Amino acid sequence: MAELMDRFPAISDLEKRAKRRSPVYSWEYLASGTGDEASMHRNREGLLKVELSPQFLKGVITPDITTTMFGVEHSAPIGAAPIGLSGLIWPGSDQALAAAAAKHKFPQVLSTVATASPEVVKPIAGDYGWFQLYPPKEPTMRDALVDRVADLGYQTMVVTADVPAPSRRERQRKAQIRVPPKIGPRLVVQTALHPAWTLAMLRNGMPGFGTLETYVDSKSLANLAGFVGASLGGTLSWEYLAAVRERFDGNIVVKGILDPTDAQRCLDEGVDAVWVSNHGGRQLEAAPAAIDTLAPIVDQVAGRAPIFFDSGVRSGADVARALALGADFVFCGRSFMFGLAALGPPGVAHAFDILVDGLLNVMHQTGCETIDDLRQRVVTP
Ligand code: FNR
Ligand code: LAC
Repeated sequence: MAELMDRFPAISDLEKRAKRRSPVYSWEYLASGTGDEASMHRNREGLLKVELSPQFLKGVITPDITTTMFGVEHSAPIGAAPIGLSGLIWPGSDQALAAAAAKHKFPQVLSTVATASPEVVKPIAGDYGWFQLYPPKEPTMRDALVDRVADLGYQTMVVTADVPAPSRRERQRKAQIRVPPKIGPRLVVQTALHPAWTLAMLRNGMPGFGTLETYVDSKSLANLAGFVGASLGGTLSWEYLAAVRERFDGNIVVKGILDPTDAQRCLDEGVDAVWVSNHGGRQLEAAPAAIDTLAPIVDQVAGRAPIFFDSGVRSGADVARALALGADFVFCGRSFMFGLAALGPPGVAHAFDILVDGLLNVMHQTGCETIDDLRQRVVTP
């Protein structure tokens, strides 16, 4: 797809087009952080500060970025992070992500508050489908959901730890994000102004909550962040995690870890991987850049479990930076969604191509054939 690469060589090119094509509320939900958005901006600044020092005169370099994780071979250590309200950002996005994941061999993590159900998405994603759990308060609902996910064949469950309460998300409040979208003059105007989104929505139907509507009346969920806080947040404790660990036979990943002590405790609880993240700057404006917390956690974990990373990754160079600092797998939330909103379903594979091409190029430029080589190239301040 050389032509696409010439027109949109960077994630930022997809981001610009995505903004133009999205209704205001979709864009505000996708692009915003919380508070003054300091932690969201810090994610970018932190990544840009990580430098790699090249070595030359190595002749032909043949980088190998294929990565086996949880027994599955992936074409690169790059995956799609869970995204809630997905069908509101771009109608049909869960299915499009799943199809691209299966085809290009990268993991797609389906959110508990995605709009498509795991029944629909898992068969599309196959071995590349993972499930993300927001912990329901009710133990019966928790067990039903965990069993349902296991019965569908999900092997990997990502438990999100960093939403102990809803965040304020001022921009989202002002945009009045609702699922299903509230039909009124505002929706009509936004719909008329964004025909590509509207067409995709007509094809896919009004988004609801595919996973949760089994348990709750999704029409009463006026505000997603509020719902997550009221019904799913404030629930997770080490005891709760142990109960999930006990019930689910597959791999458990804890997402949203920023503290080495928490990472250690995850290992003590039998967790299979630790996911370093500040939720893309959407929960705590005072949080550090996620990348700045990575090295201490890598030291603490000391190779006993894989470490995943997200928050602020917008290029293959960013992927290389996180890998160089010790991450085993790097995830992107907004980058894939920018691709979708910019180009529809083909935008997912294109975003992945940008990241992979960028990573391979950095490996050539630095003289690295393996991810381990990359780890030797970090400039320590
Ligand atoms: C998210 N994120 C998220 N995380 C999660 O565990 N469950 C979820 O439902 C969601 N929903 C969600 C929606 C949107 C629109 C965004 C932008 C993010 C967080 C996500 O998985 C990931 O941690 C961040 O997106 C990483 O930051 P970047 O890549 O967006 O900078
Ligand atoms: C978000 C929630 C759904 O980040 O995690 O919007």
